[in-house]
Amino acid sequence: MNTVHVTASRCYDVKIGRGLLDALGQELAAIAKGKVLIVTDENVAPLYLARAYQSLTKAGFCVATTCVPAGENSKDIKYYVNLLNLLADKNFTRSDTLVALGGGVVGDLTGFVAATYLRGVRFVQVPTTLLAMVDSSVGGKTAVNLSSGKNQVGAFHQPSLVLCDPELLDTLPEDVFKAGCAEVIKTAILFDSVLFDHLYANGLDFDRDRVITRCVECKRDIVCADEFDNGQRQLLNLGHTIAHGIEKMTDFIIPHGMAVAIGCAIFARAFAVDSEKIVEAFEKFGLPTRTEFSAEVLANAALSDKKRQGDTITLVVVNMVGNCELRAVKISDLTNIIKAGL
Ligand code: GLY
Repeated sequence: MNTVHVTASRCYDVKIGRGLLDALGQELAAIAKGKVLIVTDENVAPLYLARAYQSLTKAGFCVATTCVPAGENSKDIKYYVNLLNLLADKNFTRSDTLVALGGGVVGDLTGFVAATYLRGVRFVQVPTTLLAMVDSSVGGKTAVNLSSGKNQVGAFHQPSLVLCDPELLDTLPEDVFKAGCAEVIKTAILFDSVLFDHLYANGLDFDRDRVITRCVECKRDIVCADEFDNGQRQLLNLGHTIAHGIEKMTDFIIPHGMAVAIGCAIFARAFAVDSEKIVEAFEKFGLPTRTEFSAEVLANAALSDKKRQGDTITLVVVNMVGNCELRAVKISDLTNIIKAGL
């Protein structure tokens, strides 16, 4: 098992290793007592909920469970309010714990409930998708969506523990696994050319434990340096300016990871000296690198996203693998930049 320690407003371990789902109770018992609510979704529940429940009850916890529909629509305010009411009905207090057992949607939703119920209760992330393991479960960004866009209501609230069990990836549908690979490739483009070369050489057969651990280390470093997203953490938005627009315009039929691959490829073509290699890496994983949407439509969608500041928007520019930077560009230039990368 590998452990990556995060030092932020709350300090916690991210543990990566096979068998961690069945060790959930034992791991939580080392940091908490009291009641636990496991929040999961309808895809994950039949696969892993019973094991999580058993592990926690065996360790002496009083456990309740709840399940939301799978998919981005569960980040609706309605599910957030339902969860708050459930906690109140069950008399949860600040000494109790929420466990998010699922992908990014369950993690973001549960995290935001944990951030706000009684002004903040403990929560633990047990990510079940690659995307959640390497990105969304670490760093404390929690949120729900508004009809105007993704993640528009949220809070920074760090988990108390993250358990990544790579065995859980074995049941992931191929498309969902590939969507997570887009975030892995994104991390490599941003921070680590050695990791990029490993991914480029091995494609989908990459060494999962090693790659997840390395991505979590990269995420840890950026979160420790800029927990509240005022500077360097915004590098993690590589490809997201485009991706959020594509997701919204396709009513989330194009999954987040696929949209991120398209967004990264567009900004690589627009800026990077080694854009061919970057685009090829996404293609090796069977990820899309092009979109039917025009530059004008993509630029308009990006401008309605929360990353706009007055008449500029901050883009993550890829100079080359391992060398990316934040650059404020004029809104009037955005369409042409996107056009150069289409
Ligand atoms: N997922 C981007 C971040 O955590 O900042």
